[in-house]
Amino acid sequence: MKKTQITASATIYNTLSELPKEDILLMNKAIEARKKAYAPYSKFYVGAALLLENGEVVIGNNQENAAYPSGMCAERVAVWHAGASFPGVKIKKLAISASSTLKTVDQPIGPCGACRQALSEYEIHQKTPFKVLFMGEIGNVVLVDSLTSLLPYSFDSSYL
Ligand code: THU
Repeated sequence: MKKTQITASATIYNTLSELPKEDILLMNKAIEARKKAYAPYSKFYVGAALLLENGEVVIGNNQENAAYPSGMCAERVAVWHAGASFPGVKIKKLAISASSTLKTVDQPIGPCGACRQALSEYEIHQKTPFKVLFMGEIGNVVLVDSLTSLLPYSFDSSYL
């Protein structure tokens, strides 16, 4: 038997204004996207913005459906939007913001497990880690340097 240690490191900023300008601009794109989310059922609005290595910013937001499981999270809408519009172009950074009309979302909202798996596919494929920044509507912002900090032991194509 052997014990191993899994390390997940993150940087936590007190507020968005503490971040470098490029990150603030990207988060502002996620906030803009969040405001256009279609979330009439949960009232929980999520926006995501991806910065690609060619300088393009691709956005996504959650799209709900009366048949609940047919809806989709902001992060997967964004990453598939990038895959559809700019196939093969590497992702540098992803910013995520969440809000709700039912309460103030004042804590960082990380991507759900299924989104982590979907995002990790792209990180592995591009062979370069990308940063993920996430926050609520206000408050702390979490920054991780790679999907591996969000999803250790992810499933990947090498298992197939
Ligand atoms: N949601 C996202 O867009 N991203 C996540 O990572 C977690 C949840 C959306 C899905 C649904 O429309 C709403 O938030 C409530 O779960």
